[in-house]
Amino acid sequence: MTDNAMEFQSLVEQTKPTPHHIERAEIIKSLIPDNQGGIGAEIGVYKGQLIRPILDIVSPQELHIIDPWYLLGKEWQWGEESRSTTQALLAILAAYEDEFVSKRLVLHVGSSLDLLSTFPDDYFDWVYLDTIHTYEHTLRELNLLKLKVKKEGVIIGDDWNPEPTQPQHDLYRAVTEFVEAENYELIYADTNNTQWAIRK
Ligand SMILES: C[S@@+](CC[C@H](N)C(=O)[O-])C[C@H]1O[C@@H](n2cnc3c(N)ncnc32)[C@H](O)[C@@H]1O
Repeated sequence: MTDNAMEFQSLVEQTKPTPHHIERAEIIKSLIPDNQGGIGAEIGVYKGQLIRPILDIVSPQELHIIDPWYLLGKEWQWGEESRSTTQALLAILAAYEDEFVSKRLVLHVGSSLDLLSTFPDDYFDWVYLDTIHTYEHTLRELNLLKLKVKKEGVIIGDDWNPEPTQPQHDLYRAVTEFVEAENYELIYADTNNTQWAIRK
């Protein structure tokens, strides 16, 4: 292998899913309308490890991936191995070239709060929300998503933690308050795998 080919290969390695990613895709599939396909979004993508399981297991016609990557800076302040935001994005471009060209996968570089408002209303059958999980940010995302996800659609996410002493409890607080205020239904919540889902 040439040095370039080896570099390319090690970039693509970053996008390989863990068993957790495969489990998440199976949960998404079990919760979405007709258990398959549709138009979906992963909001908060990081190194793209959930993309392949979503494409293979959930099988969406169109998957939008939304993350600021380099707009947050050269590196994330957390994470294992490479923290480079541009390397993560390059890896995703390299690993999913065919899906980008066929337009089954659509890239959006920017914040959820800026980009979600650019989609038509009632556009998504489902979204997977996995961004910064603060109270204020999550509530703002949910208030945008209530317009952008179809009536029968589902908002699914990560980091469900009902324990008030835990940092991710802010997300739990935002989701439960939103459900109450907007007459949504909590259709899935699991403290072991920390996944949750709501529907109108
Ligand atoms: C926990 S990681 C996502 C993990 C990914 N969903 C997975 O399963 O591998 C959180 C991601 O949220 C992204 N993020 C931070 N602020 C964001 C924002 N305002 N809008 C969208 N994504 C954001 C970060 O860049 C980071 O990649």
